[in-house]
Amino acid sequence: MTETEFSLESFGRKCLLPPAYKEIEQKVIDTAIYKDDVWTVSYPRTGSTWCQEIVWLIGNDLDFEKAKTVLQQLRAPLIETSIVMFDCVDQKIIPIKDQPELKYKRGFLPYSSMPDSNTSKSLYQLFSDSLSFVENMPSPRFIKSHLSLELLPKKLFTVKPKVIYIMRNPKDLCVSYYYHCKIYHKINVDFEIFCELFMNDALPIGSIFNHYFGFWNRRHDENILILRYEDLKTDTRETIKKIAIFMEKPLNDEDADAISEFLSFHNMRKNKACNLQVFFDAIQGDDFYSKAGIHFIRKGIVGDHKNIMTEEMIKKFDKWIQDNICGTDLWF
Ligand code: A3P
Repeated sequence: MTETEFSLESFGRKCLLPPAYKEIEQKVIDTAIYKDDVWTVSYPRTGSTWCQEIVWLIGNDLDFEKAKTVLQQLRAPLIETSIVMFDCVDQKIIPIKDQPELKYKRGFLPYSSMPDSNTSKSLYQLFSDSLSFVENMPSPRFIKSHLSLELLPKKLFTVKPKVIYIMRNPKDLCVSYYYHCKIYHKINVDFEIFCELFMNDALPIGSIFNHYFGFWNRRHDENILILRYEDLKTDTRETIKKIAIFMEKPLNDEDADAISEFLSFHNMRKNKACNLQVFFDAIQGDDFYSKAGIHFIRKGIVGDHKNIMTEEMIKKFDKWIQDNICGTDLWF
């Protein structure tokens, strides 16, 4: 396993990524886009894996068999995979007003733990050069990204394929990201410090509001659909139907319910093709996280922040949110 230590750097307006992202930054911006592409874009922990699976199933005429047997990462990959699949090995958190200094190592996951040799080979290609992997996918392509708008391919806004952007209440997102960063980036700080880092745009991917506003300000573009995790949770059937109409593949109630059931929290958590457990377990080895009952598909509820944030933290968060959305029509 090759490893290089590195820190996060700022790309675009306020997106924090490993410095190695320089290798592909311009190539991603310039990459070819096709009208029949379908993109799912989001800040991490907004329900994007769930949403991407809905989009893929609608686009593939409810092919539940393939959705159970082929990893989502190969059917609908993250374009920046090869750069952002990294672990944080060492962190030094310095006073919050300054940039925290986070050191990372890059490395490939152990492919021996992958389900079969074809999967292993394809994943190797994806992890080595995800941009080429995406460029070579047959159309229609289903592509995902956590990059902020200014780092995405320019042609998304001229060729105008369908782009689905999902957002989530920042407080719940922060809680979810806290658990995720602990495992995925080995950021082991107290929750309170994590919140400060989050509100200071200092975590991987960086500013949530830069990310949100990039798409919110384009919400009237005919090729962009904005979704919210909360709507997907509270009105799954109607939200699935809304996505289907947007994709010009309308669904009846029965089919929307079939997708909803196939991707219910518990079913999705059990589905190895999209529960990301194989990646979690590869990080630590020996199925550590599965055995410990720690899952990428973690809790799946609205309002989880109330279980972990103190009144004082909620107040601080609410003020931060208000300061960022005031004078706009974005709401939470
Ligand atoms: P929690 O950590 O709050 O449980 P992403 O895929 O964008 O990283 O988002 C991950 C979040 O979506 C996690 O939130 C995860 O549990 C939730 N999620 C994933 N699949 C889900 C499903 N089928 N139903 C509800 N929530 C789901």
